[in-house]
Amino acid sequence: MEGRTHYAADITEQMIGETVSVAGWVHRRRDHGGLIFIDLRDRTGLVQIVAEPVHAESFSELDRVRAEFVVAVTGKVRARPAGMENPELTSGRIEIEPSRVAILSEAKTPPFMPVDADTVDEGLRLKYRYIDLRRPSLLRNFVLRDKVLIAVRNFFHAHGFLDVETPSLARSTPEGARDFLVPSRLAPGEFYALPQSPQIFKQLLMVAGFDRYYQIAKVFRDEDLRADRQPEFTQIDVEMSFMSQGEILDMMEAMLRQVFRDSMEVDLAPFVRMTWRQAMEGYGSDKPDLRAGEPLCDLTAQVKAHIGWPVLREATFVGGVVLRHYQPSRRQLDAWAEAAKTHGASGLIWIVKTGEGLRTSAGKWLSEEDLLHLAEAAQLGPDDTLLVVAGEKWPSLAALGQLRLEFARQEQRVEDGWRFLWVTEFPLFEWSDEEKRLVSAHHPFTMPHPEDVDLIATDPLSVRSQAYDVVLNGTELASGSLRIYQPELQSRIFAALGLDPEETEEKFGFLINAFQYGAPPHGGIAFGLDRLVMLMAGAKSLREVIAFPKTARGFDPLMNSPSLVDTRQLDDVGIQIKK
Ligand code: AMO
Repeated sequence: MEGRTHYAADITEQMIGETVSVAGWVHRRRDHGGLIFIDLRDRTGLVQIVAEPVHAESFSELDRVRAEFVVAVTGKVRARPAGMENPELTSGRIEIEPSRVAILSEAKTPPFMPVDADTVDEGLRLKYRYIDLRRPSLLRNFVLRDKVLIAVRNFFHAHGFLDVETPSLARSTPEGARDFLVPSRLAPGEFYALPQSPQIFKQLLMVAGFDRYYQIAKVFRDEDLRADRQPEFTQIDVEMSFMSQGEILDMMEAMLRQVFRDSMEVDLAPFVRMTWRQAMEGYGSDKPDLRAGEPLCDLTAQVKAHIGWPVLREATFVGGVVLRHYQPSRRQLDAWAEAAKTHGASGLIWIVKTGEGLRTSAGKWLSEEDLLHLAEAAQLGPDDTLLVVAGEKWPSLAALGQLRLEFARQEQRVEDGWRFLWVTEFPLFEWSDEEKRLVSAHHPFTMPHPEDVDLIATDPLSVRSQAYDVVLNGTELASGSLRIYQPELQSRIFAALGLDPEETEEKFGFLINAFQYGAPPHGGIAFGLDRLVMLMAGAKSLREVIAFPKTARGFDPLMNSPSLVDTRQLDDVGIQIKK
């Protein structure tokens, strides 16, 4: 073909009279009044070609083309006739009168047309992903993803970070999901693990003195999949030496600010900062969505001071969520009570403030005066509704947090905007019912809060950590922490986790060993790049921002993987498949 001179979207009114060459796919073809109209599509958009029978050669070529044929067209730019302009396109005021047309590739009728319709089954879309990816809205996500990555790299480059690659053939890291295993041919019966994160390598780079590291790292986790989880995904992985937690948070906040400015021209407000406890108490969640209305209220003190009804009075915690300007029907109130139960509350009491006073589901047990106390404690306005849950503190808060979110979604009260926050001081340990032992809430290298070190042996569940998350609009975007760099403290943590010395040596010996050769204080973080781009693009699933994603069952319908392999390949690595 002859050289392309322009992309579709770059041809504008200013070019009328010029000869241009474009190339791309036949997006749409119409025959009208003896003319052939082609919308030619390339990465930038559409441009209209109009062929007339007087130009016999190009007319007969264009007469042959069908949807999704690949063509190259040379011709003169001219104004569209008055009334035929398309204001939606940058090329909408012009069209091309072709003098030469070359069909570069024919196309079978595709299984679906690459237009922005949501009617196509996702399995089919993934099987023919190369056609799916022709949809302008999907392409837009990848243009955004590219811009985000450029901004990220520019930021790190400007701040003295080194981009270092770490191995993909590695061994189990401490992120706690299942590993994807790779059998070894040279050591039959032994396996590499694909990294769940570059965690240990990046800490070793700090011991090596690299000082500031980042990597756009592909990582792998064999876990149950959801809209915001893929088995392989990309982290913006970062580690820094000689920096305080405050300095790390400031640096990462600046990075996100640059990303939003450079790739979307959005200026982010300073991030809210709250501790894990404040998040849990205020929103019943460690990833609060600040767009979904005001925080929950704690009514426990008011109840203890004024209310005699044992169901409330004897509960360790009484909390509420205020649904502002909401006068629900009886049916709706019953639905809220049901919802509370599905979220683990033992029951729900409602109080509705109307022009006539207060209505409640607990009229038999709560006096007029009781209701006034509760309404006052919750600062109930004239047409508000209060939902109250009593019980154990954390489960009650979690249920109220869910009701808060559901109300905002159902009544379309979720505000627009980018509501970022830092959640800090996560607990260091959690209790695992499954394993019947303490486990690390983040990972075992997380530095405890300096004020809580003495509690590690005596009251481990109350130990706070120096771990932090970035949350955006209710989604966890990143997690990180300051790391332990003193072997002695690390041993105490392993002991609290009930790991025996042999096991720790086997699993993490190389890191602990390294720390004996001069480890700087260090800390870091990892962002889920796919999640970031998903939120920025307004997409509902990671699959919309990953070029070749897996289905919810971890399957790739395009390549049909996972798949069986030859017996020879299995023999090479000494593996026999169990029936
Ligand atoms: P963490 O395990 O919290 O931390 O992971 C960091 C971020 O990665 C994203 N993420 C995922 N994205 C898509 N699919 C998944 N299956 C998935 N799992 C996690 C999330 C999450 O916040 N090594 C530590 C970081 C550190 O301490 O520096 C780590 O990997 O956005």
